[in-house]
Amino acid sequence: MRVLGIESSCDETGIAIYDEELGLLSHALYSQVKLHADYGGVVPELASRDHVRKIVPLIREALATADTRIEDLDGIAYTKGPGLIGALLVGACVGRSLAFAWNKPAVGVHHMEGHLLAPMLEDDAPEFPFVALLVSGGHSMLVDVQGIGRYQVLGESIDDAAGEAFDKTAKLMGLDYPGGPRLSKLAAQGHAADYKFPRPMTDRPGLDFSFSGLKTFAANTIAAEPDDEQTRANIARAFEEAVVDTLAIKCRRALELTGYQRLVIAGGVSANQRLRTSLAELMQKRHGRVFYPRGEFCTDNGAMIAYAGLQRLKAGATEDLAVKAQPRWPL
Ligand code: KG4
Ligand code: ZN
Repeated sequence: MRVLGIESSCDETGIAIYDEELGLLSHALYSQVKLHADYGGVVPELASRDHVRKIVPLIREALATADTRIEDLDGIAYTKGPGLIGALLVGACVGRSLAFAWNKPAVGVHHMEGHLLAPMLEDDAPEFPFVALLVSGGHSMLVDVQGIGRYQVLGESIDDAAGEAFDKTAKLMGLDYPGGPRLSKLAAQGHAADYKFPRPMTDRPGLDFSFSGLKTFAANTIAAEPDDEQTRANIARAFEEAVVDTLAIKCRRALELTGYQRLVIAGGVSANQRLRTSLAELMQKRHGRVFYPRGEFCTDNGAMIAYAGLQRLKAGATEDLAVKAQPRWPL
């Protein structure tokens, strides 16, 4: 079975071809980061228009690179939600229409299922079951993953997502969008000892997160301290350590609860080096293992949607002829 995957839920147009036997045959990505940088965040209408411009050329490119003809395809998968409605509709319209025109089955994929299955694209893929920590710009959640389609959400953010907290705090520090990686780079030059950031919601049982208080704490600290590079680096470091510690504490609890030995981290924030190191140490202590997607598949991409879509099609899922997108969609 061979599937074309389409991702367009936010500011990345991602297209990929995944083959059940041969693996990932091609993937093409266009990031709109530069387009949105001047505005300090994603402008939904600009995002939709840019997806319209890029999506068909990228599909052509992915098919050519994979040496795949239309008749070689067994289905088309696209991100159906959650995400920006206009951006999602571009992928859903193109995916559903091509499937109709080419007489193939179509399947709508949950964006977060794509992220949590992304480590399956690697040679060294985790076996089921595992705990997944999904940390992106839109979501922070811990999921008990028992198999394809068997997901139980153990906890999630009650306010800002981890990536959102990174981005908003970075903005307070005058760093450009997307701020997460920039804040992390600045933090590498700082030391945390001067500031005692809280570890939100770790003093009570449960697996939910709350990150908006950390952003407020950072805002107050920035306002009270001198405005120089080293101070900012120190605050960035203290903020990053607080986010990472909080995530690690909740991961440990989720592993204790499920008894699993495998942890998967995915979503944009899984690119964070301090988080990776911290979770690797946690799993070493627990005699378990941590799995991540390769760097380029931590953030949004078409490969994870092609993979998840193929699994869904194999399980018999298909869309009817209506073009549907779900900006809000629980996992
Ligand atoms: O998964 P993703 O590409 O898009 C969403 O579905 O949201 O995640 C993007 C998020 C942004 O908030 C970005 O700042 C954050 O991931 N991010 C990072 C790092 N790289 C990306 N946050 C902290 N450290 C990083 N190295
Ligand atoms: Zn994402």
